[in-house]
Amino acid sequence: MALWNGRFSRDTDALVAAYTASVDYDKRLYPYDIACSIAHAEMLGEAGIIESADACMIVDELQAIRQEIDEWTFEWRQDLEDVHMNIEATLIERLGDAGARLHTGRSRNDQIATDERLYLRDQVELIQKLLRQTQKALVNLGVAHSTAILPGLTHFQHAQPVLFAHHLLAYVEMFERDVSRLEDCRRRFNVLPLGAGALAGSTLPLNRELVARKLGFDGVTANSMDAVADRDYLVEFLAALALVAMHCSRLAEDTVVWMSQEFGFIELDDAFCTGSSLMPQKKNPDIAELTRGKTGRVYGALMGMLTILKGLPLTYNRDLQEDKEGLFDAIDTVAGTLAVLAPMFATAWIHSDAMEEAASDPALMATDLAEWLVRGGVPFREAHHQVGRFVAWCRERDMALNDATLGQMRETIPAAQPECLDLFSPRKSVAARELYGGTGPDRVDQQLTTWQEKLKHVESRSSST
Ligand code: ARG
Repeated sequence: MALWNGRFSRDTDALVAAYTASVDYDKRLYPYDIACSIAHAEMLGEAGIIESADACMIVDELQAIRQEIDEWTFEWRQDLEDVHMNIEATLIERLGDAGARLHTGRSRNDQIATDERLYLRDQVELIQKLLRQTQKALVNLGVAHSTAILPGLTHFQHAQPVLFAHHLLAYVEMFERDVSRLEDCRRRFNVLPLGAGALAGSTLPLNRELVARKLGFDGVTANSMDAVADRDYLVEFLAALALVAMHCSRLAEDTVVWMSQEFGFIELDDAFCTGSSLMPQKKNPDIAELTRGKTGRVYGALMGMLTILKGLPLTYNRDLQEDKEGLFDAIDTVAGTLAVLAPMFATAWIHSDAMEEAASDPALMATDLAEWLVRGGVPFREAHHQVGRFVAWCRERDMALNDATLGQMRETIPAAQPECLDLFSPRKSVAARELYGGTGPDRVDQQLTTWQEKLKHVESRSSST
């Protein structure tokens, strides 16, 4: 029997019960729902709104229920709609009137908003931890291959040589922004909605600050209507996850490309690849492909959430119940992806000879030649044009840039000197880029050291995932 049926004369139609129930998925929130109820009951007792003996019974029974759920002996009932009413109904069944006092001054509207924020706090921590592990795996790979050099691409065309570690550290930077975005999102959502009631607050002297302190919130929401209508925190969190997924997807795409026969820059360990059911020779980077593919569902969760909220009148509307499945799926997807990417990179084989060969095309050093001319006083646009003509001159003759003699070079670059002929080395090219943020070996080593230091307390592989 529903907990709200006093004004109803007939039972809910079975179809309606099935359509409206959320317990199948929102039961995931039970530890947070129980923590929220315990803090609320303690406050009701301490504030003298209910007898402290009742508050104690409620707290003890809630703890017992949590243990039963942990041990899978708790019976979830779909006719009780959601996680909140399943737990509360069991409490009332066991404690009678004392149990029926728990919901004093509270609504499921402020309860769910509180549960979700508590849940999100743990998820922020989990995703941050996994991001750190992934960063660590990339930094370690960079350290192990700190001299490897490969062609950096723009427009997917060979552009300039860069250190492999520099490329990896680009992702470390992206993941760092993800960590801080999650932190920022947490800072905004870590306030307590409880006390907002259904939408208008309460006539009872609830001590909201006390509940906030008990639950580790930094403060309380200032407007009861906003408190129950708001799901901005989910949009922000999902947007942060969408960016994590996008970063993973770009890293995955680089990996797929590098592992292709055309590139042959890396090979993933057998344990992190799968085969073909038809072609015996195949070893495929399916993890990386799935990482790309799964990005879609994370974006989908974000779009779904934004769409649910668009045009919703204040305050709580049942539409908001639809905020959960996409959220849970996005978290599972991103956590699962990060958990597998870290060991995938930790065990990857790097073919630095193939990388270096590809980076040795002298055309990749054309910019170095233009900048050499700039140092001699040639305006950059003019230098760019002259080197461009030199590239075209060589191409017409099917010559590599470093095959030209000084005399030939001077046909298009009048100011060329013998040292120009020595510029066509990828090692020299990167070594000349020690500007802060550049791919110079000293700079990259410094960055690797800085990251190693920063990540030294991160475990290499999560045991909880
Ligand atoms: N299961 C509901 C949700 O997740 C809880 C709040 C229900 N409130 C209500 N008035 N029906 O949104």
